[in-house]
Amino acid sequence: MKILALNHKMNINNNEIDNYISEFGAIKFNSISCIVCPSLIYLEKFKKINCLIGSQNVGMMNNGALTGEVSASQLNSLGVNYSIVGHSERRTLLNETDEMINKKISLLLENNIKPILCVGETKEEYDNNKTLEVIQKELLNGLNNINFDNIIIAYEPIWSIGTGLVPTNNEIENVISSIKKIIKDNFNKDAIVLYGGSVNENNITELENINIVDGYLVGGASLKIDSIKKMVQVMEENDYA
Ligand code: PGA
Repeated sequence: MKILALNHKMNINNNEIDNYISEFGAIKFNSISCIVCPSLIYLEKFKKINCLIGSQNVGMMNNGALTGEVSASQLNSLGVNYSIVGHSERRTLLNETDEMINKKISLLLENNIKPILCVGETKEEYDNNKTLEVIQKELLNGLNNINFDNIIIAYEPIWSIGTGLVPTNNEIENVISSIKKIIKDNFNKDAIVLYGGSVNENNITELENINIVDGYLVGGASLKIDSIKKMVQVMEENDYA
């Protein structure tokens, strides 16, 4: 079953969320699975419409003195199913390291929350043909000593996030098959791999031609209900085709 994961990032104000939720709650997901990752303050509200919910981040300790953070155990107690971890915005703007990400992944798994681990290269790394090298490093460091199970990987080229720039289908296919091979070779598991970076209702038809993509992680377009509906429609039509 393909996955459509929605990453709201730090968007939607309190006076807008109820409307979003009532429209979102009316969308039917027949053959795809949709995971919504709103700001933490709205998780409880999304629970009421009975969808899969994810956090955008998790604290680095299991409970205790870490002001401003929310732990995997707290997320679990709220019924959260997934958590994005290692998003490039956190890596670059908040200096999150592979070691921190590794710790977060193990806390999430201990608390029965499925991590969605984001990996991806900068424009400079892309231009210098370093993509696979960077991704291999992020995967192996982030997953160091982890029992790979119930983990989703999201390939998100940093230069593609929020820019409208998307790699070619061949490029995406090449990276995703390399990710699957790295996971197979190192953990003997079949990885679920999403593509993320400027996915929207206009380019998803083209992206759907990549057979090995298991779904998408969508930022900007996840804020518009009409865009979500169109993406769901394209993914489901493709599924039945
Ligand atoms: P975007 O963001 O769809 O706005 O490019 C994707 C992401 O950062 O997860």
